[in-house]
Amino acid sequence: MTTSARKLFVTTALPYANGNFHIGHIMEYIQADIWVRYQRMQGNAVNFVGADDTHGAPIMIAAEKAGKTPQQFVADIAAGRKQYLDGFHISFDNWHSTDAPENHDLARQIYRDLRDRADGSLIEVRTIEQFFDPEKNMFLPDRYIKGECPKCHAKDQYGDNCEVCGTVYAPTDLINPFSALSGAKPELKHSEHFFFKLSDPRCVEFLENWTQDGKLQPEVANKIKEWFTVRTNPDGTTSEGLGDWDISRDAPYFGIEIPDAPGKYFYVWLDAPVGYLASLKNLLEKRGESYDAYMADPAMEQYHFIGKDIVTFHTLFWPAMLHFSGRKTPNNVFVHGFLTVNNGEKMSKSRGTGLDPLKYLSLNMNAEWLRYYLAAKLSARNEDIDFNAEDFMLRVNSDLIGKYVNIASRAAPLLHKYFEGKIRDHGLSGAGAHDVIKQVEAAEAAIAEYYEARDFGKVTKTVMALADVVNKYVHEQAPWDMLKKFPESPSAHEVLSVALESFRILTIYLSPILPQVAEQALGFLKASTSSWKAIHRPLTSHRPADEAILAYKHLMQRVTPEQLEALFEPPAPAAQAQTATETVAAPGGEELAPTITIDDFTKLDLRIALIVNCEPVEGSTKLLRLTLDVGEGRTRNVFSGIASAYKPEDLVGKHTVMVANLAPRKMKFGVSEGMVLAASHGDEKANPGIYVLNPWPGATPGMRVR
Ligand code: MSP
Ligand code: ZN
Repeated sequence: MTTSARKLFVTTALPYANGNFHIGHIMEYIQADIWVRYQRMQGNAVNFVGADDTHGAPIMIAAEKAGKTPQQFVADIAAGRKQYLDGFHISFDNWHSTDAPENHDLARQIYRDLRDRADGSLIEVRTIEQFFDPEKNMFLPDRYIKGECPKCHAKDQYGDNCEVCGTVYAPTDLINPFSALSGAKPELKHSEHFFFKLSDPRCVEFLENWTQDGKLQPEVANKIKEWFTVRTNPDGTTSEGLGDWDISRDAPYFGIEIPDAPGKYFYVWLDAPVGYLASLKNLLEKRGESYDAYMADPAMEQYHFIGKDIVTFHTLFWPAMLHFSGRKTPNNVFVHGFLTVNNGEKMSKSRGTGLDPLKYLSLNMNAEWLRYYLAAKLSARNEDIDFNAEDFMLRVNSDLIGKYVNIASRAAPLLHKYFEGKIRDHGLSGAGAHDVIKQVEAAEAAIAEYYEARDFGKVTKTVMALADVVNKYVHEQAPWDMLKKFPESPSAHEVLSVALESFRILTIYLSPILPQVAEQALGFLKASTSSWKAIHRPLTSHRPADEAILAYKHLMQRVTPEQLEALFEPPAPAAQAQTATETVAAPGGEELAPTITIDDFTKLDLRIALIVNCEPVEGSTKLLRLTLDVGEGRTRNVFSGIASAYKPEDLVGKHTVMVANLAPRKMKFGVSEGMVLAASHGDEKANPGIYVLNPWPGATPGMRVR
């Protein structure tokens, strides 16, 4: 261990601001938070920051759909972050936004530095051909072009690959391509794009060294090695070596405008990692500290926690951007695998289902159960881990509570009952310390190394093995038997004191993982500090030796099967619609139907209809029989399932909208010659109510709705 305090700048990946956190995000934050808390306990000075990744086409389009400006949209998402971060005890020092002024300035400055290099610019402008949506007046990202797969002819495939046969192609290869935004036929148009010349020998040489010098996890470094020799192009062909990186997008785009290039914006991934620096800068300036001085300090160490899906951006583009703009590069990038739930498939970014973090909290499930469980499963490798409900219950109830908490819950009440809550100041430390305490203390260096290396599974394993040692000792000594015979038994007093002192040390070992339990535990023990150094300072030295500890209060409840059942019960569609993601994905309780073209829409002939007459249908509780005038010189007979919502007299004389070109349908009660339009929620049970459409005054029978 180094003795002087380290200066650490730590980040997690910046989540897209198009939805609430899902459990994968929370896992990443818990992993980083445990590491950060450990570093702080070591006396190191940490700045731990996050931010929302706000830019890009998907967010711009989601905002438009939600009827908000992109700024309002991302602000609403940001407002929902705190409850998750506080709820899971994530100790960020700052949370910021990539749309903040600091980020605009820094991104533009980094770009200028890359462009204006004295030894030759690393930015190049090239004309490329791209699909353009003539109705939306914008260039279309691959994801927003659809059409028929050129290989297997599956319809409705995305612009970059076919989900049916798996072929990778360019959007221009699609048969009958159309814009997923407007349905319009896209046109090929020329556009000037800005490229970061990663293929430049200066970049290649730098990156080969940066990625292969031993700092990265071996499995990560090995994967990256391949990118220097072969890469897969968007059209499925392969090329040698690093390709240049297209860093610009054309207006309209929610992002940062490129200096000296009106109408051109940075591609979201250019300014996203700059958001790390922007959040740090914002934090330091709020504190009245200098960002430039902080970054210039050669002793400062910079670390990014990320998932395995965004390695390219963090180990190629980001270090290259920093290095060639004359800035400090990260000391390391820590890559984790993906979290799955109950052996489920990898949670998709958009669906993010499986285990809803807010639901977890709302069921009064303890955040530290999850922190402990994830810690127990995490290693330094970027392997996927699975949240398994049974395993979760077992580890929390049997290990965390049955082993660790058990030490205190057995010893403390006895210490109070027989010894006024006073710890025996004998055999607690130094050469004369009891063997059990010596053993517990001896694990300190190993546990510190596990934390440093993010091998948290080894931390919990080691601590639980030590808890076994303590419990076995207490069990064998059976102080309760001694006390029955001799209520002042010094031996019993020693056993209880050794147990509680061991518990104090184990608590410090676990406190990066269980910050709240640790605070409570050290609080009732009246320990004055939870610093890592305090491991070797026995409890009796924290305060007057004979000062009593406080009465023991339960540190943690057990997980119940009922809680887990409730956690994984599929949410009612009505409840689903309450989260921001869900509102976007399933408005009114159901997913949007697949996109149609304007031609599809004009096939529907909607007309204003006057409800001339309305009566109940004998033999049906659901239907009403409507007589409608659509300006045709005759009336139509239409059955409508709205009897639960309207009485016939409510409707007579009112105008509504009907589908006038629906094929007539023979029903039990007669022929229905059309359909009346009405609104209802996707889940009628949870959200009952049917609302017949009613045009604004002035519309007359027969007018077309378009
Ligand atoms: N906005 C980008 C990151 C920009 S960083 C400058 C992004 N956002 S994300 O919201 O999709 O993902 C944020 C982080 O969550 C990433 O590190 C990603 O790997 C991680 N995870 C997303 N799903 C995950 C799991 N199921 N499990 C663990 N981590 C997961 O990518
Ligand atoms: Zn196909």
